[in-house]
Amino acid sequence: MTTTEMPGADAGFRAVNITKHFAGVPALSGISFALRPGEVVGLVGHNGAGKSTLLKTLAGAHRYDGGELYLDGEAVNFSNPSEALAHGVATVYQELSLLPNLTVLENMWLGHELIGARGLRKADMAEQAQALLDEFGLDLDLEKKLETYSVATRQLLEIAIATSKNTRYLLLDEPTTSLEGEQIGHLLTYIKRLVQKKNVGILLVDHKLDELYDVADRIVALVDGKVILDADAKGINHEDVVRAIVGNDAAEVAIQEQATRVAKDFTDAEVALEVKCLRGPNLNGVHLTTHVGEVVGLYGLVGAGRTEFLRTLIGVEPLEEGELRVFGKEYRPKNPTDAMKHGFAYLTEERKIDGIVPRMSSPQNVALPVLKNFSRKGFLQSGRLKGMTSDFVKKLRVKGDVSGPIEELSGGNQQKVLIARTLAQNPKILLLDEPTKGVDIGVKAEIHALLRTMAQEGISLIVVSSEEEEILEVSDSVVVFAGGQSTCDPLPVDQLSIAKLREMAWSNK
Ligand SMILES: Nc1ncnc2c1ncn2[C@@H]1O[C@H](COP(=O)(O)OP(=O)(O)OP(=O)(O)O)[C@@H](O)[C@H]1O
Ligand SMILES: [Mg+2]
Repeated sequence: MTTTEMPGADAGFRAVNITKHFAGVPALSGISFALRPGEVVGLVGHNGAGKSTLLKTLAGAHRYDGGELYLDGEAVNFSNPSEALAHGVATVYQELSLLPNLTVLENMWLGHELIGARGLRKADMAEQAQALLDEFGLDLDLEKKLETYSVATRQLLEIAIATSKNTRYLLLDEPTTSLEGEQIGHLLTYIKRLVQKKNVGILLVDHKLDELYDVADRIVALVDGKVILDADAKGINHEDVVRAIVGNDAAEVAIQEQATRVAKDFTDAEVALEVKCLRGPNLNGVHLTTHVGEVVGLYGLVGAGRTEFLRTLIGVEPLEEGELRVFGKEYRPKNPTDAMKHGFAYLTEERKIDGIVPRMSSPQNVALPVLKNFSRKGFLQSGRLKGMTSDFVKKLRVKGDVSGPIEELSGGNQQKVLIARTLAQNPKILLLDEPTKGVDIGVKAEIHALLRTMAQEGISLIVVSSEEEEILEVSDSVVVFAGGQSTCDPLPVDQLSIAKLREMAWSNK
């Protein structure tokens, strides 16, 4: 055996045969791999494959129950994340962990404030914090509360903070899922810089292979808690990675996703929603019409107003002007409960903030908005409720212990539970904001098929997505948003292409 083959002998962060169980169920079953300084390893795998668990185990947030970890040749077993951090291992988790009600500056120094003889060295802290923001290209006000910024910005800040410490190994769990367009490019560039300039080793979890191929030197794929592939990124193509992760059959579906569809004609179909000249604080004129059985895709750049539009429809954002009709009847959005009575259901983009109730089970999360439909004379008909919710959880093939707290499910499976929740409301008009965010390639194809089926069953769907492929795959027609406006009448999907979508979104900027 040469020295480089000896476990833990060389520079790097090396896992040897690591196992981790939750209540006797294996989440990691003998993981061996290494992360070397100055390289980016892309970690992929289906929802529930064990990616987050692996990161948490490497970062000291979970104790492993078998195997060994070596940091530059030395055996380590971190008892908590601060210990890992002290060894130069920093992590940014799938869930945000900064505190929204503290200021940007307070968040940046939380737990390691600079203290001098005369108390907090606020000026020094502000100076160093500003330098880090500049380096990262983040234009934030240090004194503002974090809650005033978007989730995307908070995510970028969290990564900036993680890299500010003496970080040699950086573990990132799906950092791009809450980012869009330019922000993603920005982050990927920053990752490359960290590797080149500071020789940091980065483990990056991401479901979007294009992004991974942009930065990763190696691709490691997990299936059911085992490493199924560990290859040089240059030596393996996308299709082979997809096949490794999802198995052959599902891979064919995912690979064929782009097959062109012939657009159906909806001119004679019943109109579900009609919106004319809608205006709000950030909306300057939205027009669109949707039909029963139709999927309308909303495409646009970050901040184009798509999410605000959906939130205005359900009465969360104020409507200033505009004419709205739901199945021919005038509609004035008041609040989400009233919107639900009018047949709307809404899937939020930000499951991390206003999506799940973490300690409740999956069926309880599904049931929340419809509880009162299942009570008679003040009593909850729990049998009927259970049947309904578990049907939906099954239909979406939620994997993991669905009777336990939802926070213990993998990120992608939590998203499936939220989709189940909107279906349980039996909507006539379904509003979905980035429905497959954080969902693996195989499940994504399943969700697309499910949305198409729902349309065929007579629901009218509006789907916001920033992924052109997704828009083209699920929509019958597409409306492009720019600067708070809809820029066109719904265009049939067969007249569109990725290039055309981008051109429309940019030319109206
Ligand atoms: N705290 C926990 N308690 C119990 N089980 C857990 C816990 N965390 C994760 N699991 C289980 O471990 C398995 C692996 O989950 P993990 O979150 O690591 O998946 P993942 O690969 O990150 O998936 P995703 O792509 O959906 O984020 C799943 O079956 C999950 O339900
Ligand atoms: Mg995960």
